[in-house]
Amino acid sequence: MLIVGNWKMNGLIETAQELADGIVAGLGARSGRSLPCEVVLCPPATALLTVHQRLDGSVVKLGGQDLSEHESGAHTGEICGIMLRNVGCRHVIVGHSERRADCGEDDAKVARKMAAAFRDGLQPIVCVGETLNERERGATLEVIGAQLAALVPYVPRELTRRQTLVVAYEPVWAIGTGRNAELEQIREVHGFMRRQLEEAFGADAARMRLLYGGSVKPANAGSIFGLEDVDGGLIGGASLKSAEFLAIIDAVPEKF
Ligand code: PGA
Repeated sequence: MLIVGNWKMNGLIETAQELADGIVAGLGARSGRSLPCEVVLCPPATALLTVHQRLDGSVVKLGGQDLSEHESGAHTGEICGIMLRNVGCRHVIVGHSERRADCGEDDAKVARKMAAAFRDGLQPIVCVGETLNERERGATLEVIGAQLAALVPYVPRELTRRQTLVVAYEPVWAIGTGRNAELEQIREVHGFMRRQLEEAFGADAARMRLLYGGSVKPANAGSIFGLEDVDGGLIGGASLKSAEFLAIIDAVPEKF
């Protein structure tokens, strides 16, 4: 299981330090039993270095929220994968729906960014998901299918434990709305994604990780994580309070 905290555009240096310290301390206090999951924090770019320093010596890993598809050069305002590695990142979120909507990232661009993450030695966490309009007109699986299909040619054939395909299913209508998808809806989409990955990658698909994101809270995390084909969560709002984020980690079933 993999639990990722996406802090989005929240946190100045001091609050980022406090939040990271709270999470590290909370996990340390639970060290009597081994953690049932990997934990990754994705602070805003300006806080990456300081959070990296706070995470030093802990099991918690660091991730970026986005990366450039380019390796370096004249791309004002962009951050490339090597720079993320340089400040301690091992993971990076790619194609979040807020970037798809705010920055016009389409499936092809998201796929190129994912390829850049693989190239630069990062573990991409690629977001997919349908809008409310797409769900209401019955196009959910078609949209998710197209988003996944765009990724397939860019996934390296030689996957490792540190670099595999991680996909986060985040229904756009469930992000930050307090309205999370019903278990049956999550089960349907995750099963569909696993089958599509099996068709493309055969046995490797079993080792790819499918996260769910969208209004995950301590109260609903256990039942979502208990679903077949759900290998973790991408947590937005609830990752901004250490107690809530820790309670979500506590909801990871022991079987993992
Ligand atoms: P949310 O955000 O948990 O606040 O709904 C999830 C995400 O956007 O990754």
